[in-house]
Amino acid sequence: MSACTDNWPEVEGAAKTVLGEDLATQIAEFRSQPHPESQLIAVLHKVQQKFGYLGVPQLDAVAQLMRIPAAKVAGVASFYHFFRLQPRGRFMINVCLGTACYVKGADRIAQKVIEELGIQWGETSTDGVFTLEGSRCLGTCGIAPVIMIDDEIHGDVTPDQIPVLLEKYLKKARQEKG
Ligand code: FES
Repeated sequence: MSACTDNWPEVEGAAKTVLGEDLATQIAEFRSQPHPESQLIAVLHKVQQKFGYLGVPQLDAVAQLMRIPAAKVAGVASFYHFFRLQPRGRFMINVCLGTACYVKGADRIAQKVIEELGIQWGETSTDGVFTLEGSRCLGTCGIAPVIMIDDEIHGDVTPDQIPVLLEKYLKKARQEKG
């Protein structure tokens, strides 16, 4: 999709519908600044804050409202690891990859999670329950290796405990769905 178009009001309206008036207004402010392209990362952060991830419709809408080629917007979004291109799972798994955890086998913990869920770093399980990410030191090195699921810390974790741990959250997700 090109950022240049002769039916601008229509395209602008559609982009506003995708992003909402609040974001569209903020983007208009960013665009009025001297080098709008340099504001792209800040804009994408705001979009991710609102939607939890950057989907194709949101990226296209940003391209239209910023008047930047869609390929460039998509390229920036996929280049930086802090941008999420898929919806987040119900539970966020953060495997601590800090030094203390690494020394105590964080890589084996991570590998077990990857095996159990069949996903890679940054991905969400097909049932939408889990998203896997690595994190820096979580500040609880005394109980390394540490894994955090949403805001719950689990310490002294072994690979064998991972299936039981995941099952606990899976049950919770099922209960929530009813
Ligand atoms: S290195 Fe993992 S909690 Fe500090």
